[in-house]
Amino acid sequence: MVKIIAIDGPASVGKSTLAKKISKTFKSPVLYSGKLYRALALKIIKRNISFNNTEAILKCIKYIDLDNLSSAELYSSQVDNISSIISAKKQVRNKLVTLQRSFPKKYGSGKKFAIIEGRDIGTIIFPKADYKIFLWAAAEVRAKRRQEQLRKNAKNPSYRKIFSEINSRDRKDMTRKIAPLMPAANSVLLDTTYIDIEQVFNALKEIIL
Ligand code: DC
Repeated sequence: MVKIIAIDGPASVGKSTLAKKISKTFKSPVLYSGKLYRALALKIIKRNISFNNTEAILKCIKYIDLDNLSSAELYSSQVDNISSIISAKKQVRNKLVTLQRSFPKKYGSGKKFAIIEGRDIGTIIFPKADYKIFLWAAAEVRAKRRQEQLRKNAKNPSYRKIFSEINSRDRKDMTRKIAPLMPAANSVLLDTTYIDIEQVFNALKEIIL
């Protein structure tokens, strides 16, 4: 049976880097669940739908395709912002539960692990996941990492702007009423403030192998 690894944590903490590394090493599929909210945000931006129009937003969910979530457009700061807003809507979250829960069955057959990263994977989506990891790092360190990542893509955003966006997303993700970002009681907390991805990966291997 495929084992589920749930990875949760705040923005720019390195969840997707870690998930990608596990996926490559163990030839196992990964779902970046934030992409579902991003794909939905992009759709509503393109269709000029207001983020207050929940009914119209819900109608767009049918266009989200698990096989097709790799557009670069998903990572604009407008999408960052709108995806965070719509992810606070209960009906939106409820509708996305089934899609996320279908992932291990759909892609995990014959694989060692199915990796899902997000904010509520260990708490709401897969409360019975085999392994639950909560990644953490100080906001200053996450802002620096994000800045370096953006520089690699030939962008040069100010540190202040990134830092303030990270703080504002943290606030939204952690204080929303529905499925706020928090560690599951039985998760393993990995604080990555002072360690790099290799060290995080080594710590993780101790847990999953
Ligand atoms: O992980 P990300 O930055 O791609 O996520 C985009 C937004 O979606 C972020 O503001 C939080 C939200 N999100 C969520 O509420 N629940 C998840 N499981 C994943 C992401």
